[in-house]
Amino acid sequence: MTAEPGLSRGLDGVVIGRSSLSQVDGENGTLVYRGFDIHELVPGTPYESVVHLLLYDELPGADPSPEVVRELAARRTLPPITERVLADLPPTLPPLEAMRTILSSLGDGGYGYPPTRAQGFDLIARLPIAFARFVRHRQGLPPVPIDPERGQVETYLHQMFGEPIDGERVRALEGYFDLLADHGMNASTLALCVAISTESDLISAATAALGVLKGPRHGGAPSRVTEMLDRIGATERAAPWIEERMARKEILYGFGHRVYKVDDPRSELLHGLAKRVAAPSRLALAETVEREALAAFRRHRPSARIYPNVEFYGAVLLEAVGLPPDCFTPTFAIARTAGWAAHALEQTRENRVMRPDVLYDGPPAGRVWPRARSGR
Ligand code: ACO
Repeated sequence: MTAEPGLSRGLDGVVIGRSSLSQVDGENGTLVYRGFDIHELVPGTPYESVVHLLLYDELPGADPSPEVVRELAARRTLPPITERVLADLPPTLPPLEAMRTILSSLGDGGYGYPPTRAQGFDLIARLPIAFARFVRHRQGLPPVPIDPERGQVETYLHQMFGEPIDGERVRALEGYFDLLADHGMNASTLALCVAISTESDLISAATAALGVLKGPRHGGAPSRVTEMLDRIGATERAAPWIEERMARKEILYGFGHRVYKVDDPRSELLHGLAKRVAAPSRLALAETVEREALAAFRRHRPSARIYPNVEFYGAVLLEAVGLPPDCFTPTFAIARTAGWAAHALEQTRENRVMRPDVLYDGPPAGRVWPRARSGR
């Protein structure tokens, strides 16, 4: 696409404010939360402690953060309107569409501007349990009673699958949640901030963000990664399948990033976490696809600097944890509620309504409306 002076399609390089939450360095391949490189945090940091870091801008007193554990545990109930919506949702509804409706229903009229930390905890605590309830509802299964002793990530799996819960899978998903908790001014967070800038409420803003996350060029990619691995099916089919797809100039999901022009640091960590839980044959297939895709990008787009993004090994991990592919993007959204809440709070600090411009390229003013039609 040719650049046009005064116009930034895709808003590349446009700086819309300040943030002390996460620092994304696309040239050096680093991601830092409030000064902590993600390699400091993953694996091993409870999601509650990452939430604490993002929402309080300080280290928790212990792991997992006692305050966040308490705040989230106190909020694991659903408003009556959400209960009614859940009961009425058609089980055939795709889970991401169901989540959009569920999320919207969490805004029961009690949220306003400015967003508060307590509202952030509501969002973080309620979305996973409401969504897990839908996943059971579509299978005709009853809800699982909340166990207050379980942490945030384990509660999500327990609410969805009941017993038994495999500790290794919880730890892998915990790492995924930590890594997906925030990521600078990405497209869905921007949508959230635009909504907050108009003094809308947190739930409305998060619903807007979820709509943006849905797109396959953003958070909607991981189930397509699983689909790609399924279609390829065997390591020896990877090279010809990818070559054919590249020749047709089709997108390879799970590769490429607007900001990272070297390895996405989350990808390497997710690969390590996936190794702990994925079936060896699936992992070998993914590793072969990664290798062959990188070779194909070098041949077909030598200047593009395309590497695996968060969705590639993220999909392998989520599949190994036992989540169905149509729950991958909703799970991404659940992990990102921490970042969404933190950005909503931050947006209120120096708020200004976001209102960019477009270059008008329609007909010049001065056209005359035919009088016979307007009846004047
Ligand atoms: N497969 C094929 N071609 C690609 C891919 C890919 N995965 N990624 C980038 N390209 C192409 C672009 O279309 C562009 O082509 P063009 O020059 O002919 O227009 C060229 O390579 C350069 O792309 P970039 O400028 O580096 O990246 P861009 O900002 O255009 O795209 C994006 C970034 C949307 C993520 C893209 O890489 C993509 O669509 N990837 C596949 C979908 C995906 O995995 N999405 C998840 C992203 S991670 C996240 O948002 C959570």
